Amino acid sequence: MSSPLSLRYLFLFLLATLFHSSQADVGTTAHYSPPYLPTSCFGSDASQFPSSNLFGSAGEGIWDNGAACGRQYLVRCISAAVPKTCIPGKTIQIKIVDRALTSVSRPSRNDATMVLSTTAFAAIANASASFVNVEFQQ
Ligand SMILES: *[C@@H]1O[C@H](CO)[C@@H](O)[C@H](O)[C@H]1NC(C)=O
Repeated sequence: MSSPLSLRYLFLFLLATLFHSSQADVGTTAHYSPPYLPTSCFGSDASQFPSSNLFGSAGEGIWDNGAACGRQYLVRCISAAVPKTCIPGKTIQIKIVDRALTSVSRPSRNDATMVLSTTAFAAIANASASFVNVEFQQ
């Protein structure tokens, strides 16, 4: 028979493990416009883009020597220089298709954590902002 105390420890342990493995990161997100091809990940293949047009390029911090290609991230706008820039409660899932450093079309800001397609950026924030702070999670 287990005591309630040990059950509580077990629960806390499981909770801590769960939180650790699903922890989101915080970074900045800029945007870029067409042309999007060719990309560093998949070249000129137009089928690399999800039909939702929710995709982006990886900043050097997450590029991971090319391993970032094809990764999916959940992205949510958390703050920006101008109040009310974020669309509250909106989380999108994007696919990494390029490297921000070498994308054909240049980002609205250099050294962003990730750079979103026009459609993706507009889905989480006012598109007139050049960058916003985001929470993201693979
Ligand atoms: C987006 O930001 C611009 C510039 O700050 C502002 O003029 C415009 O009203 C904003 N649009 C929306 C939908 O909030």
